[in-house]
Amino acid sequence: MIHINGATKLVGILGWPLSHTLSPYMHNAAFQSLELNWAYLPLPTAPEQIKDAVGSLQTFNFVGANVTVPHKQAIMRYLDEIDSVARNIGAVNTIAVRDGKTFGCNTDCYGFLESLIEADFNPKGARCLILGAGGAARATVFSLAQAGAATVAVYNRTVERAAFLVDDLQNEFGSVEFSFGSLTSEDLRVANHHFDLIVNTTSVGMTPAAEKNPWPKNIPLPNAVVCDLVYNPLETQFLQQAKAAGLKTIDGVGMLVHQGAKAFEIWTGQPPPTDLTRQVILEQLQARKRK
Ligand code: ATR
Repeated sequence: MIHINGATKLVGILGWPLSHTLSPYMHNAAFQSLELNWAYLPLPTAPEQIKDAVGSLQTFNFVGANVTVPHKQAIMRYLDEIDSVARNIGAVNTIAVRDGKTFGCNTDCYGFLESLIEADFNPKGARCLILGAGGAARATVFSLAQAGAATVAVYNRTVERAAFLVDDLQNEFGSVEFSFGSLTSEDLRVANHHFDLIVNTTSVGMTPAAEKNPWPKNIPLPNAVVCDLVYNPLETQFLQQAKAAGLKTIDGVGMLVHQGAKAFEIWTGQPPPTDLTRQVILEQLQARKRK
């Protein structure tokens, strides 16, 4: 039971809509377990209210906030400072408010790399294939490049977006060999199939369209570790296909838990119990499956 009183420190999440967010469960469970007088609130923010919402964090002395879809990019212009990782990715998912000033950072990168480490996958020297070229893809590609991946291929439904992403990050990471293509059977068939890691960063396969699979039909999966950032359902069609092909899989819960853990540490100065926060997320996903 959280007892909110005049001394409670506040954090929250800005997004629109917020009905599906799991972050309040995760952070409030961690506060309670560490006996911190803190609360994490949903702060539903329509796109035209972002500027006011940032102002409200300052007005109400929030310690910080997470930022989710669709505000990760748009919010940047309203923050006082943005760290180099978030600036390079072009997206902020965590805000800290210090002395009335707002600092934007991005913990998705950290979360993604932690989820790979947890699965014993070392991205250094790896040949990676990224499906998608949106915000999540950008954080993933940036993380892999920074961690020393050898090659990164970005394949997207809209090929121009993949080209743009690659072009942008190529300048930043000269030692990584980038390529791009269209997420179609024809393009993937001709792609070099020697990959160590394949990551789905698209929303394809997410509940309520859980029967969908981003991987084109009639193309066998390369012999690689297969990761899906979609965590609802936990075992997507894409991961099921990979498992059926005997491949190692990494689900999206690890990234969710670890991006949250980094944000928690930025706000409170201490790490949360990630065994607990993972368990809370898994329980929520199970409960939603039953509904
Ligand atoms: P996010 O910040 O979550 O990455 P986004 O920036 O809107 O969200 O990007 C969504 C990604 O999912 C994009 O790569 C998008 O492909 P397009 O650039 O072609 O739109 C991909 N995506 C969404 N729905 C898709 C679908 N039905 N089939 C293939 N790709 C899809």
